[in-house]
Amino acid sequence: MEDRMNKVKQEEKKKKGTVNNCPFRMKYHIMPPVGWMNDPNGLCQFKGRYHAYFQYSPLNVHGGGGYWGHCISKDLLNWEYQEPVLTTDIPEDQSGVYSGSALVEKDRMYLFYTGNVKLPGEYDYIDNGRISSQLLVESSDGQHMSEKTKILGMEDYPKDITAHVRDPKVWKEDGEYHMVLGARKRAWDEEGSRRDEGCALIYTSKDKKKWKFQQELIGKNPFGYMWECPDLFALKERKVLSFCPQGLESEKERFQNIYQSGYTLLDKGDDLEENFKEWDMGFDFYAPQSFQTEDGRRILIGWAGLPDTEDIHKNLSVENDWQHCLTIPAELTLSGDKILRMPVRELYDLNWKKAKEADGEYLWEDQVVKLQIEEIKGNELEILLGTEENGLTIHTEGNRMELSFLDKEGKPVKCGGGRKIRYGRTLEPVKKLLVLIDSSIVEVFANDGETVFTTRIYLDKKDRKLKIKGAGTKDCQVL
Ligand code: FRU
Repeated sequence: MEDRMNKVKQEEKKKKGTVNNCPFRMKYHIMPPVGWMNDPNGLCQFKGRYHAYFQYSPLNVHGGGGYWGHCISKDLLNWEYQEPVLTTDIPEDQSGVYSGSALVEKDRMYLFYTGNVKLPGEYDYIDNGRISSQLLVESSDGQHMSEKTKILGMEDYPKDITAHVRDPKVWKEDGEYHMVLGARKRAWDEEGSRRDEGCALIYTSKDKKKWKFQQELIGKNPFGYMWECPDLFALKERKVLSFCPQGLESEKERFQNIYQSGYTLLDKGDDLEENFKEWDMGFDFYAPQSFQTEDGRRILIGWAGLPDTEDIHKNLSVENDWQHCLTIPAELTLSGDKILRMPVRELYDLNWKKAKEADGEYLWEDQVVKLQIEEIKGNELEILLGTEENGLTIHTEGNRMELSFLDKEGKPVKCGGGRKIRYGRTLEPVKKLLVLIDSSIVEVFANDGETVFTTRIYLDKKDRKLKIKGAGTKDCQVL
């Protein structure tokens, strides 16, 4: 364990210069100190600080895992990096300390996560060769962890569930502890061919150690072959199930990424084809997790990235030995049957200043930008980030939105790293837009967060311009 932690320290030290000199580092987003990051884990507020843990591969910029990274913050925006808190050091987590969540009770923090084992050999790693255990550690400071305790193993899952069971999210309700897990269920189609189905498993416990299977949550019809990173919480008393289905077929305006991430309101029934709503329509969003703040807000943070995309598009920060980040923490509110997602209010308390405009253009270079459009003049709005030859266009027309890295000839431009085009819609025509730019990430919130697009962007400093066409009232501020 110590040895593995020392290796991280050395690597972080060795590459610090390269990483910190990268023009794509951000100010208010959680990034890996070096190497690769993926899912947010164990999000919570504990003893006066927010804690965000994350899947961390400091020794390999292309992933592979092995650690839970850790950072803390007082305002959800300025983050301080700590040493990793978990690594693979017991037989049950020898191939990975996978995703999980935090439960805070009085002055103790409990972290639940999946220990992954991939046995060496010729296995399919679906029905055999893989062992998924759910593990628990405790802490009184969020940094030093107790011994690991196994709380669920293969023997505890329903018989028709494959070896893919992971990402425990735990909460307390009605005096009992509840856990939701993502799983892959063995299933066959009408012709008898294997066609597995994603589902979520619910367990309950009285003491956080002994868990009893309660229920499976699954769609009326097959909805992907595996669900990752489930989360279950209430908004205005209505139960929301958030999860990441894998294996949905892409359509022009739906399910445009390799894997999906969205939610359904449980009281709407189990027709997921109809009731599943995507969290984000951009190129870079997956594996979100929520938590509740002490003042009662439900905050969501996602991974601004996706697994298995390195052959599809690139993150140009890889040259500087790091890739990926998390999204800006956002507050969730329910409006009808839709969840609105807007950056946390702490963002507005930062020391914003009016941006300087010259010839109808803003130059932002090293600055963080918050562009608020309160009114769209006609039916259309266009924002160009970068230049005509190398830029991202955000286009809205009525209730249709488009994010495009394609140039006039339809070729992908350099700053998108291979990203092309994404579409989204709002219920009513787009009237309001918030665009947040922090170096290499752009987050677009339409109509108070009804539809959100997250994308990474890799612009040289000289090309960091912003041009707006069609806005009525607008306010562009920088930091
Ligand atoms: C989602 C995921 C999780 C898993 C973790 C491993 O991106 O595949 O299901 O726990 O990443 O890093």
